[in-house]
Amino acid sequence: MRFPPAWLDELRARADIVQVVGQYVQLKKNGRKHWGLCPFHGEKTASFSVDGESQLYYCFGCKAGGSVIQFVMDYERLDFQDAVKHLADQLHMPLPQMETDPDYQRRRTQRERLLACNKEAARYFHQTLFTPAGQTALDYLKKRGLTDNVIRKFGLGVAPNGWDNLTRYLQEKGYTEEELRLVGLTVIKEATPETEDSPARPRRAFDMFRNRAIFPIIDQYGNVLAFGGRALGDVQPKYLNTSDTPVFNKRLGVYAANLLRKERHLQRVVLVEGYMDVVALTQFGVPGVCATLGTALTQEQAKLLKRFAPAVYLSYDGDSAGQNAILRGLDILEAEDITARVLDFPDGLDPDEFIRRDGKDAFDMLPALTPAAYRMRRLRASHDLSTQEGRTEYARACAAILSKLDPLERENHLQELMVQTGFARDVLQQQIGLNIPAAQSVAQPQVVPTRLPPRRPASAPQEAREEELLITLMSTGRITFDLASAEDFSDPLMADLYQALPEGASPASLVEMQPDEVIRARVSRILLTEPAEDRDQLIQMAHECLNRNRNRRLTQELQDIMRKVTNLQGVEKAAALERAKQISLELKKVQPAR
Ligand code: UTP
Ligand code: MN
Repeated sequence: MRFPPAWLDELRARADIVQVVGQYVQLKKNGRKHWGLCPFHGEKTASFSVDGESQLYYCFGCKAGGSVIQFVMDYERLDFQDAVKHLADQLHMPLPQMETDPDYQRRRTQRERLLACNKEAARYFHQTLFTPAGQTALDYLKKRGLTDNVIRKFGLGVAPNGWDNLTRYLQEKGYTEEELRLVGLTVIKEATPETEDSPARPRRAFDMFRNRAIFPIIDQYGNVLAFGGRALGDVQPKYLNTSDTPVFNKRLGVYAANLLRKERHLQRVVLVEGYMDVVALTQFGVPGVCATLGTALTQEQAKLLKRFAPAVYLSYDGDSAGQNAILRGLDILEAEDITARVLDFPDGLDPDEFIRRDGKDAFDMLPALTPAAYRMRRLRASHDLSTQEGRTEYARACAAILSKLDPLERENHLQELMVQTGFARDVLQQQIGLNIPAAQSVAQPQVVPTRLPPRRPASAPQEAREEELLITLMSTGRITFDLASAEDFSDPLMADLYQALPEGASPASLVEMQPDEVIRARVSRILLTEPAEDRDQLIQMAHECLNRNRNRRLTQELQDIMRKVTNLQGVEKAAALERAKQISLELKKVQPAR
């Protein structure tokens, strides 16, 4: 099966390479590119680069490179077809042969129909909020301080009062009762026969969410996965959430992932407990806020957050449930190697209540506790430091925490611990284990074995390098193509690229066009090299490249002619001499800058 180029372009456009590679490799932005440790060969300094602009990656260490599809092929060890399917599946993109199939609508996978159904429901909830049926809910949200703007940003809505408004609405749109039940929007009560206590009841299908404010849960690709419904009064439960469905697993995602995705250069994710906390902090201008979905932080969620920012600030409620969740959350984040901090809210407030009471500046001033500082603070609260026993136990527990820190951070806490417990520094140090020589030097971890052999193209001669540089310069789209001509490229690959570039092919598609891995990596390197910013400088560089190569070629030709000319006679000799004259003239025009 061949995928249509337009469809592949769309796949590449949706599968942002930085995002996809970021799922496997921790990336840091530096300049235009993102850098990380190459997953294909063992290394300690990052020489693996990913460029969001050209949508290509390249490792300067092992010379692996290519498009997002190549990356999935290499990493997941899939062939092209399967890598494309793998990506399409992740992005919920239907495969192209299905689209052209007239039965496509009917045969669409269940997953796609359920997602479409959720989207339709979200639209219904949101639109109803601004009708008379939504007035009570709108008043409620306004009373809680939400602006129209933030209501729209989060697509908040209302499930109106009544039994089956949404169920009927979605059935009219063509969704079956079974689909509505599967996706958790409709509850089916089977018929019951008459008993002594109650009359017979017919089978009924009614809405899961009734008379509640609705928070749609949307993933980073924009799919509506589920809903949270807030009671408008004191009704229990306060929040009703979609249970796990074929399209929703609450352990895997976070609330507001769709907004996180849009934030650029996030330094930290602020992780809170509640829907309202996310909405309120966002309204007050805090960037990068999201929430777990009514569960403790999971490993999968931690991995997801790592893709958005290098650090996570746990900002849970000030109550005891929230505080215990922080301890578990810290363990999870540390296991995933994510920088973690704790924001501790005063007076048992949750983030929503705090920012509304004290404002954004107060939020920004909250101290961000390191995991060790937070753990020690918790230990202090649970030990009686007025007794020797309490102080000893406290010192012992803190020493265990401090043993895992680097010397500078440890020193800060050591001072504190001496003052709190009265133990001398060397006693505490011994307890921490600093004086035990055997435990001191941890063996260096072994270099990870390479997954793929390094792909190193034969070192290019000067001329080929100039041609590559020309293509690099032209791929910026900032210099005109007619500066050169096809004859300027002796390397057929460069000549091909030169022909293809003006046709507007994307760098990624030019890479994928290539028949084998080595060539794809080479083309990636060429198209991903970062040339100067200044357009005049680009043009000058291109001119110099061209001149050097033209000069080299003409000189070569001239030498050949002069060698042959002594053996020539008559017209042939005259023609050769004429050509030599021409070359001399042309050579004057292409004198390279010294
Ligand atoms: P909270 O009880 O802290 O709610 O629960 P909240 O966010 O402060 O809500 P408001 O401000 O009273 O409206 C935190 C989170 O726990 C889940 C929800 O995800 C909620 O946002 N939760 C809570 C439920 O799922 N069901 C509940 O009945 C209560
Ligand atoms: Mn709250």
